[in-house]
Order: sequence, then C-alpha cells, then structure tokens
Amino acid sequence: MTARNIKILVAFRDDSVRAIVVQNLRFRIKDSRDIHEMRSIEDAIEHLEAGREEYGLIVFESRGHSRTLVRAMIELAKNAAVIVCGSDEQVLSDYKGSDVPVVFLPLDLVGDRLSKTVKALETSGKIPLFHENESEYLGIRANLLPTLGVLQANVFMLILDGRYVPILKKGDLVNMDDIRHFIEKVPDQVFYFRRDECGDLLQSKIKRLESALEEIPIDSEKVEDVIAESFGIVRDVVSQIGFTPEAQRVAVNSVMLTIKLLGANPKLRSILNDLKEKEGGYIPSHSIYLGKVACALAHKVGWRSQSTYFKLTLAAFLHDISLKDERMAKVFDLEHFEKSGNGEPEEVREIRIHPARSAEYARQFQEIPSEVEQIVAQHHERPDGSGFPRGLVVRYFTPLSALFVIAQDLIEYSNSTSELSFDAFFEKKEMEYNVGIFRKLARALRTDTTLV
Ligand SMILES: [Fe+2]
Ligand SMILES: [Fe+2]
Repeated sequence: MTARNIKILVAFRDDSVRAIVVQNLRFRIKDSRDIHEMRSIEDAIEHLEAGREEYGLIVFESRGHSRTLVRAMIELAKNAAVIVCGSDEQVLSDYKGSDVPVVFLPLDLVGDRLSKTVKALETSGKIPLFHENESEYLGIRANLLPTLGVLQANVFMLILDGRYVPILKKGDLVNMDDIRHFIEKVPDQVFYFRRDECGDLLQSKIKRLESALEEIPIDSEKVEDVIAESFGIVRDVVSQIGFTPEAQRVAVNSVMLTIKLLGANPKLRSILNDLKEKEGGYIPSHSIYLGKVACALAHKVGWRSQSTYFKLTLAAFLHDISLKDERMAKVFDLEHFEKSGNGEPEEVREIRIHPARSAEYARQFQEIPSEVEQIVAQHHERPDGSGFPRGLVVRYFTPLSALFVIAQDLIEYSNSTSELSFDAFFEKKEMEYNVGIFRKLARALRTDTTLV
C-alpha cells in the first residue's frame, strides 16, 4: 500500500485531551489542516451526516456506556478506520469479530497508546499509510545559523516555485554578516536542512554544551547565550519533527548547564534583576529564567536536591515550547485577553491548550520524571480553579507545580514594579495563596526574606 494523505476527524469534549490526540496525529500527516477537530460526538455525527468530507480515520471519545451514539458514528464513518476512546470496552461488543475497522482505546491511555494504535491500523492495512513527515527538509530560523559554528549540514533556501536551492555548504563557518542581508529583507527568514542531516546539525550544539559543562571557571555570559540559542534550535526542530534523541540531548545539556550556572546557592534577587536587564526573545529568556527563579524558591523552602532543580529547570525549558508566538507566552489572564479582543479565536484556543501540548512534548522524552510533565501541564492553572486549560482546583496541584506557578507570578510581579519586595508580593497574593499547598509554600517562603 502506498502512502497518501488522509483526512482525520477528532471529537473530544476536553480541550486538553483533544490537544493530546491532535498532537499525536500531527506528526503523522502532511498538512495539519487535514485534522478536523470537533468538541463532541453529537457535533461529529451532525458533521458526518452532512457528508461533505470523507475521512480515513476517526478518533472520538465515548462517554459512559451508551452504544447508540457509538454505533451511529461507526455507521457514518463509511470506509474510515475508527478509534473509540472511553472507559468501557463493552460499547464495542457488537463489533467483536466483525470486519469493521474499529478499535477501542482506554481514554486515560490515549497519550501513551494512540500512536501505536494508529501504526497497528496502518500495518494491518485498515487505513492507508500516512505520509511519515513527508517533507525532506526542515526549517530553521536564519538568525540561529551563526550559532551552529561550522555547519554540519548543507543549507538550502526555499524559492518561490517550491524548489530548495543550496546556499551554504557543509563545513562552512557562517557569521552574522553572511546572513544579515537575508534577514534584512525578510525578518523571519527561514533556511532549510535536509531532515536526515538534522542529527548531525544538532551534534555540534551538543558538543558545545558538553564542553561548556566541563569548563572551569565558566564564562557565564557566553554560556547564557549558548543556552538561549540551543533553546531556539530545539524549538524549531521539535515543532517540526518532535523530540528527536539529539534534540533531547540538547535540551538536557542546556538544563544541566543552567543548573551549573545557578550554583549551589541561587540568589533570587540577582536572578530577578538580571531578568529585567535581559534582552532577546521573550520565550527563550523567560523559559530559562523561570527555571532559575523556581530553583531559587525551591532552595528557600529547603528542596535542594539536584533532581528537584533538574525537574524545575527542564519543566521551565519545555513549558511554552509549543507556542510559536512570543506574544502568546505573555498571556496569563486568558479570560481578560479573550474579552479584550486582542487575539483571534484561534490564538485564544492555542493559548488555552498550549500547556497540554507542551506536556505532550515533555512526554516524548525518554526517562523523564513524570513530575516534569505535570508541572508543564499545570503551569497556567490557578489555586482558585480559575486557570486553564483544565480549571484544576488546589488539591490537584503537585508541590512542584505550585512552586512553579508561584515562580511565574513572582516574575510577573517583578516585571511590573521597580521596587521589588518579597513581602509586598506575598501581601498582594495573600488571599489567592491562602489555600492548601500554596498556603504552606507561601508561609515557608516568607519566613526567610533575607535572601531577597
Ligand atoms: Fe505558558
Ligand atoms: Fe511561560
């Protein structure tokens, strides 16, 4: 069977579960517009009844035990393969032993098993093979090129008729002057590498980070730049092909280096002051500084193990990685942003689900502590349940997630004031933090204000 692009219908009520499903499927298709998302099985039935679109795969959530809606979906699916996600496999008992290409997947295992289930449907011939990341080329922002040192891969430019023309050769050393005129003409200029050379390309970054980890003494300013550049490259790679083993190594080394820079006794005030002075892209600097602030807070409450620092710093590195636009990373009050009319509905949606999307990236990591994924998934939740995407209440926060949220609040607060006072911050937050783990953390943090 040859590969061809198929359309996919996805129907899930919960935004974050739907985001996980879409995330898993996105890597398998050519064009993300080929995934049609719906919020409920009823809407999906109505949509299928209208019959305007033909699908190759339908993935939906069946709530409860009702077989009627499930049967309706499967009948309307025509030739599509169907994956039913739910809590009770019995909803499919009518189809046992039949030829209908329908499989059941427990809803709570969707993130772990969906890709394997789709693969099994492909290899059994029940759905056509998807295009496996069909483009041979991988885009990377032009201004990141000079940070790669001697190029480990040929560099191409995409021209108007869709052809990729070589502009720089493997072995070239590129500096900012070489690419300045490209960037001047097109500010978001993107260059391309062949996908199969992506590993080689990241190798030089891995080497640079590894040698910085060995350096004594460490040149902190230079190393900060290396970390920020690494972040940019990882983000570009991950958004296109997911967390490859090399991209994971770049991320982990960047995190280790951040922790090394932080030293044994992280000083909160100097970190926050530093952040104010820092220029550069909002997402890179904020994702790195958030890790530092979170570690400094952890140090204050006595959580001083390397593994705690690692979890917090890696979570910070990953938490906004699924956002493409820096402006979106600055939105904390989504309701206010939505009402202000400053964002398109699509942007509001993207912001709403980015914690779940980023957590899904975190899950692609091998041997990552599960807490990292939780911190990422919960980073926009609030103690009073007013956060997003799930509106979790305080008892669902892990201690590290709560600390991470406080770290973000503190950064936001320090950006809004010239007179940084730890006490004033906690006074402002007193009401909100007066519950569960937030109350405990706020108390522990306030007992020692000397470090600030
Ligand atoms: Fe975020
Ligand atoms: Fe953020």
